[in-house]
Amino acid sequence: MPRVLVVDDEPSILSVLGTLLKAQSHEVTPARSGEAALALMQQQSFDLLISDIRMGAMDGMQLLRQVRREHPNMAVILLTAYGTVETAVEAMKEGAFDYVTKPFKVDELLITVQRALQYQNLLSENVALKEELAGRYQFENIVAESVGMRKVCEMIERVAPTDTTVLVLGESGTGKELVAKAIHAHSTRKTKNFLPINCAALPEPLLESEMFGHVKGAFTGATVNKEGLFEAANGGTIFLDEIGSMPLSIQAKLLRVLQDKEVRRVGSTENIPVNVRVLAATNDRLEDLIAKGRFREDLYYRFSVITIQIPPLRERPEDVLPLVKHILRRELGKDKPLPTLDPDVQRILESYPWPGNVRELENAIRHALTFAGSNQITKDVLPAKIADVSIHGATPVGPALPFEDFRGKSLKSFLRKKEQEYLGSVISSMGGDKEKAAKALKISLATLYRKIPLDEE
Ligand SMILES: Nc1ncnc2c1ncn2[C@@H]1O[C@H](COP(=O)(O)OP(=O)(O)OP(=O)(O)O)[C@@H](O)[C@H]1O
Ligand SMILES: [Mg+2]
Repeated sequence: MPRVLVVDDEPSILSVLGTLLKAQSHEVTPARSGEAALALMQQQSFDLLISDIRMGAMDGMQLLRQVRREHPNMAVILLTAYGTVETAVEAMKEGAFDYVTKPFKVDELLITVQRALQYQNLLSENVALKEELAGRYQFENIVAESVGMRKVCEMIERVAPTDTTVLVLGESGTGKELVAKAIHAHSTRKTKNFLPINCAALPEPLLESEMFGHVKGAFTGATVNKEGLFEAANGGTIFLDEIGSMPLSIQAKLLRVLQDKEVRRVGSTENIPVNVRVLAATNDRLEDLIAKGRFREDLYYRFSVITIQIPPLRERPEDVLPLVKHILRRELGKDKPLPTLDPDVQRILESYPWPGNVRELENAIRHALTFAGSNQITKDVLPAKIADVSIHGATPVGPALPFEDFRGKSLKSFLRKKEQEYLGSVISSMGGDKEKAAKALKISLATLYRKIPLDEE
């Protein structure tokens, strides 16, 4: 029920307004002076203030100014018996929602009240939303304008305080490690280590000793006892990057560590208790690896309880320009003024498909900064592949073919030409990577090779 505070020094007006508004199911509180109104506002909250302009010590204009300062989101309607344009204009300038002249028409008053309440509603929803976004999903270094990334942030916030394993999925350069770090940074383990390890970067025996440690003499070259990452991360978080590349034998050991919360160094018979949260990331489809026998299903189930899927950058163009700003700020430090982007450049950056995602965007901006002379980023300082708008302009299929070229030729030859153009543009947008292009086109690589014209080779 909307709460309306009505201020007038004339009891008859207060009574009329009270009757009218109560009939509209509004909750009405009367006040006989501006001072009394302010005191009431200290004690309870109202959605709308209706005040006479001409009153005793504190007039309606003074009240309006004070209310704007102390309760900036409250809508105010002023009543004036001396409906001069000047007072009305001044009231609006001072931030009144509207004014109504006395004697007022009932309809007119009620409509104004209705509009003010609707406006007030929108305003408070907006404030609540902003507070929620600012407060709840604030991860200092994660740009998240798009709905997709905001969902990611919401997930991070929800899973961070729990101790569950989390699987972060996303194409390369989408921010998987950034998300893992944010989970750690918002967990109760934040004061302890966050240790990443790339499972694809090390050969099997090295990966095993890196993760679990080894004892002296465990293998040739093991000249001293060495603790593994699980021990070093004790109390903290371990981040297993590219978990799809983890050899099966290590998967089995990892599963045991997760179940028993103990590690055994390579070559040792002693179990060492560890308390580590495990986060993992991959760009592979683990389901496919399971089908091929390269990933353990039981391990997959442990990890897939909670997954965070980061959308590729091309699916969230709203993030591109905020990311550019973020990257420029990081590259230039916090005091330097940021260069402006040509409208042309903005359009290019927003329409380019970013196969390398945010990492590719970072590289492009660094490249541009290296060559940007003035305080402006223009098209010619972008990497050539990205600046070439004709490849990934608004219409990926390219401009229409002139009718004349095909007069008298078969539909098939026309379609073929169109198809080749399209294939060419997709290949370019994938940075020349035909395997990726084939995937995007949902055809086999062999089919792609068969279809592309020789000069594309
Ligand atoms: N939403 C974002 N806001 C700010 N920076 C981001 C965002 N997403 C990614 N980045 C930045 O992009 C770069 C790549 O991110 P990160 O290394 O986390 O990606 P990744 O998915 O782990 O990539 P790869 O698959 O190549 O390992 C980092 O410098 C990271 O800070
Ligand atoms: Mg990574």
